[in-house]
Amino acid sequence: MAFFAVSQTAFLLAVLSWRISQSEVLVEHLPLTPESLTVSINSTLQHLHLQWTVHELPYQELQMVFQIEISRFETSKVIWMGNYSTTVKRNQVLHWSWKSELPLECATHFVRIKSTVEDARFPELRFSSNWSSWEEVHAHTPGHDIKLIFPRDKLVEEGSNVTFCYNAGINQNLSCYLDSELIHGEQLYSNIFTFKLNNVPFIREAGTNVYCAVNYALKDGTVLFVSKVLEEPKDFSCETQDFKTLNCTWDPGVDTGLVFDGQPPQHYTLFESFSGEKKFCEHNNQCSWEISPDLQETYNFTLTAENYLRKRSVSTIFNLTHRVHPKAPSSVHFKNIGATNATMTWKIPALGNYSTLLCQIELRDKENALQEHNVSIKVNGEFLFSELRPDTQYVVRIRCANAKHVWKWSQWVTQPLVTAEAVPSKALDVWRRVKSEKGLLHVTIFWKPLSKFHANGKILFYNIVTKQLDKKSELKFQSIPAPANGTELTLNQGSYQIQVTANNSVGTSLASEIVISRDSGNEEVEEEKINGTKDGFHMSWKPQSRGRTGYVVDWCEHQRNLHCDLQWKNLGPNNTSTVISSDAFKPGIRYNFRIYELSTEKIAYLIENRTGYIQELAPLDSPEVKALNLTSHSFTLSWKDYDTEAQRGFIQGYRVCLKSKATQCHLDAVEELLPDNSTCCKHDISNPKQKTFLVENLQPESFYEFFVSSYTSAGESPVGTFTKVMTQDEHSHMLMRIILPMVLCVLLIAVMCYWKSQWVKEKCYPDIPDPYKSSIFSLIKSKENPHLTIMNVKDCTPDAIEVVNKSEGTKTPFIGTGKTLTESEFPKPANFYLLPAQDSSVPGPCISFVNHTYRETACDSSSCAHTPVTDTALPCQLRLLASPDNLQKTLEKTHRDSQGEIPAGEISLNYVSQLASPVSGDKDSLLISSPVPVLCSEYKMQTVVPSCLDSTVLSDNGSLSSVTLLGQGKHYN
Ligand SMILES: *[C@@H]1O[C@H](CO)[C@@H](O)[C@H](O)[C@H]1NC(C)=O
Ligand SMILES: *[C@@H]1O[C@H](CO)[C@@H](O)[C@H](O)[C@H]1NC(C)=O
Ligand SMILES: *[C@@H]1O[C@H](CO)[C@@H](O)[C@H](O)[C@H]1NC(C)=O
Repeated sequence: MAFFAVSQTAFLLAVLSWRISQSEVLVEHLPLTPESLTVSINSTLQHLHLQWTVHELPYQELQMVFQIEISRFETSKVIWMGNYSTTVKRNQVLHWSWKSELPLECATHFVRIKSTVEDARFPELRFSSNWSSWEEVHAHTPGHDIKLIFPRDKLVEEGSNVTFCYNAGINQNLSCYLDSELIHGEQLYSNIFTFKLNNVPFIREAGTNVYCAVNYALKDGTVLFVSKVLEEPKDFSCETQDFKTLNCTWDPGVDTGLVFDGQPPQHYTLFESFSGEKKFCEHNNQCSWEISPDLQETYNFTLTAENYLRKRSVSTIFNLTHRVHPKAPSSVHFKNIGATNATMTWKIPALGNYSTLLCQIELRDKENALQEHNVSIKVNGEFLFSELRPDTQYVVRIRCANAKHVWKWSQWVTQPLVTAEAVPSKALDVWRRVKSEKGLLHVTIFWKPLSKFHANGKILFYNIVTKQLDKKSELKFQSIPAPANGTELTLNQGSYQIQVTANNSVGTSLASEIVISRDSGNEEVEEEKINGTKDGFHMSWKPQSRGRTGYVVDWCEHQRNLHCDLQWKNLGPNNTSTVISSDAFKPGIRYNFRIYELSTEKIAYLIENRTGYIQELAPLDSPEVKALNLTSHSFTLSWKDYDTEAQRGFIQGYRVCLKSKATQCHLDAVEELLPDNSTCCKHDISNPKQKTFLVENLQPESFYEFFVSSYTSAGESPVGTFTKVMTQDEHSHMLMRIILPMVLCVLLIAVMCYWKSQWVKEKCYPDIPDPYKSSIFSLIKSKENPHLTIMNVKDCTPDAIEVVNKSEGTKTPFIGTGKTLTESEFPKPANFYLLPAQDSSVPGPCISFVNHTYRETACDSSSCAHTPVTDTALPCQLRLLASPDNLQKTLEKTHRDSQGEIPAGEISLNYVSQLASPVSGDKDSLLISSPVPVLCSEYKMQTVVPSCLDSTVLSDNGSLSSVTLLGQGKHYN
């Protein structure tokens, strides 16, 4: 740089010396040096304003170029050099301005100027003048205070560059801030510092503080106002409503105004070039312009927006008639309103006779535009609407525009229109239900209310006329106020014609007719099941007669409620199928459809009957079940039929779920897991009519739980509570069957026995057995010995020894003190009766012999000699033998023996002992006095073994031969 500066200076010096030598020549001829140079300053604009003259112009005007040099601080510090070309006139004061980046208050400026003639007409004048002398200029700071920061309260547009300067002492610690943000500066000249702000943003309307501090002490500050850039007005247009004023509007864009007088909002002016008139606009978005009475046709408007810093403008040119925007029509009215037509009238605020208007008329219902019409009018409009619907609410709206050139439509004006009522246009859709009861017909007539379209007004009442067909009787009238949709008639048996009409304020609809025949209400048709689908119930039928005029399918929409809400569907005579659908159809509800055929006489005949579900559901409830016939191995379940209304599908069967302790199910059952993780055996009953079930093969005295569910095609009823049952005890069963009758028998016998106790006693166990009554002798007697008699007890020697000596065959006398037996009875056997040692006359109890008498040891004693030996036969006519089987034989044998047929060598000694236990207090009568045989309760028989046999043998025999006969005694009776 230093080198460049030095070489530049050397070059300048060289040029200068050359110039001086030249100018010396020129000055002599044409001294066109700029004179009277004055320099002024506009601080706000930072302009240096130059003003000078050129004396002694040789021509009236000359094309000249002025070279201008501007120095700062010192004349040698040239900061700007430039040329200004202009045509100079004689005695003209020339002006030129230079804009300084640096505020002019910051430094002293020097200006000098020289001129060159550059006129092609005068090439000979082509030379330059001398420089004028340096003109020094200072900016004066306003006010009296010492200001350090410049520029003061500067207003710039957003995005501009601003340079601040600060006049400070040298080597001071200076820091400057923009809105508390440090800004970096540089030293421009000795004590002058500059701060450059590039592209300043819009911060706020109130401006931004710029201030400097020296050693952290605030020295001076000022405000920088940054405004938005002024925009060009947009959408500038003008229009008239009445050919009196033009209303010009535009979109102004951003407001460039700043508060505290930094800058007022931009203002707008309207200039019309043809008339040359100008108007200052009061609003910043619209301006009204008076139309002159001569009706200028074309207008050229320029709209100018302006603020301190900028000016912007837009233009528009138009024909007045193309900018007509009529006001909304007024006084819109209807007159002569009928059922199908009405007249509308309206007015347009005066546009004068200058133009024709086009009006648009629209007839709407709530949603749609129904009619659209265009009408041309001048001032007053009238239009006739036709083809309207009676009793209908319409809305009519109208707007207008200039007919020649539609610039803008006026606003819509809406007006409601309600047409008048008319006679109902359609006959009612009528249906009936007939119930025949006790000789009366209960007819319910139903009709569907007419649609608004057909009612043509408010239906006030329905008229019903009933006429009996088979009798000549008077017509019956009935009037039912709306909004009824049916009525009930009670008629006598017969055929009737019923006509129904709907009436509004204007008139009566056509009559609908139905005929009730005698048989109506009594038809029986079998019910068929149908399945509903998503679309509804599909059904078809067979035509019944040729002369038919149509079909009707009817059904109740709310089957479950009492309120049936009868629905019906009319079908033509050629239809034999239809789909009945309704939003009211709900799954799980049974619907019943009846199909009627209509005859030419308008009589409806029921031809088919359908029932079904739109969708079957699983039953909600299970049947109520009772367990019957409970036994030890089975029981029977029984339940009742479902209520049809409660079914949610056609019941297809039942399932019996049986829980028991048994692990295995029967063959006809399936094991199923229940929700509570228990299992049960499930029996399926696929016949819905079966309502009993026998549960068999059970264990007695066991718990069983059962549950019966029903199922439809959609599934099974939910598992409910199980019922517990306990099978019966097997034995209790037996008890009932066997033991009870037995007990009854025994009781009966006991009663019988008690009744006949005396007889039984005598027969079975008499107190004293009566030998006479014993049958045994009758037996013996009858057979062999008719003379056999019973020995008297008196004659009986109770104890005796009988010695049977067979070899001698002689009569053996009794030994001892005993009496001899009568020989007549037993003459031959030699029987010895050994009486007891004591005197037999001494009364005593029955004497008992104990067999120790015959023991070996006893044999030696003295008593042995007179040991009594009893004869079995004699004392009591009972031969007591070792075995009862031998009794009869023995008895028979005795008889044979007594007749001398005792076989030789058979010799034995028998002791017969009678252990008599006499009846108490009857001791004396034992042997002597009692004619009645003494009761001996026990007999004992011992067989004597001839003297002193081996003791072991004896004991064996003794035990064998000792027999108690009490029990066997019964056999003898
Ligand atoms: C500076 O220029 C502005 C704008 O042209 C003008 O309004 C103002 O009066 C001038 N100031 C001086 C001191 O001439
Ligand atoms: C501001 O200064 C920058 C950089 O010096 C320059 O590019 C830009 O054109 C200047 N803007 C104006 C509006 O002078
Ligand atoms: C001009 O037009 C504007 C906007 O459409 C409106 O607000 C204003 O009232 C009109 N002025 C006149 C005089 O019609």
